[in-house]
Amino acid sequence: MKILLVGGTGTIGKRIYWRLQNKHELVTVGTKSGDVHMDMTDPHSIEELFNSVGKIDALVVAAGGAPMASLKELTQEHFYEGIRSKMMGQINLALIGQRYINAGGSITLTSGILADDPIAMGVILSTVNGAVNGFVVGAAGELFRQGIRINVVSPGVVEDSMEAIGGYFPGHNPVPMERVVNAYVKSIEGVRTGEIIRVF
Ligand SMILES: NC(=O)c1ccc[n+]([C@@H]2O[C@H](COP(=O)([O-])OP(=O)(O)OC[C@H]3O[C@@H](n4cnc5c(N)ncnc54)[C@H](OP(=O)(O)O)[C@@H]3O)[C@@H](O)[C@H]2O)c1
Repeated sequence: MKILLVGGTGTIGKRIYWRLQNKHELVTVGTKSGDVHMDMTDPHSIEELFNSVGKIDALVVAAGGAPMASLKELTQEHFYEGIRSKMMGQINLALIGQRYINAGGSITLTSGILADDPIAMGVILSTVNGAVNGFVVGAAGELFRQGIRINVVSPGVVEDSMEAIGGYFPGHNPVPMERVVNAYVKSIEGVRTGEIIRVF
């Protein structure tokens, strides 16, 4: 399979890369890192990416962020930052990408535990993660008619990120990378569609 892996140099993305590199043809994407450069907050940049890469069998997105701050500090612009990146960045990749995915192929997006299990300072991530989950549920039926599957992996805080962000997640259980990567493999190589694959 030819797999376009957006965020393929990141904490989660590089582990997906390591697992799949010997089995599939992988093209990694980041703003500065990876085989091809693209900014998912810019739809023109996404169009250029697909024009240059051409037809693929699977699109995987393990990228997209949102600001973390207390509710009292948040403004509309903070929300738009998360919407442009983690929400519409992933949705635009799927919307534009559907024209480039071969029949029998798949799209795998990434949301996160905060859609279901909130923390202080995480309201924007709770919001956009919920939206990404909703997009996948809503889009699966029409994509099915095109012969394309779509799922979203919703990880808890991964082991490798505990040092950096674990302090924001009191009482959360770090998730082994092996389990998180398995969820992406299940989405890419399996048969499920329209699923929110929770790995908490
Ligand atoms: N880590 C966790 O514990 C955890 C838990 C739940 C959910 N998630 C979600 O999983 C996803 C990946 O998280 P991560 O921790 O692996 O992130 P990360 O380590 O920060 O890596 C982010 C990756 O995305 C690329 N990237 C960043 N901004 C981009 C943009 N605007 N356009 C295209 N590529 C971009 C980066 O490459 P460049 O630097 O070259 O741009 C890098 O490859 C995120 O959506 C995150 O919210 C993570």
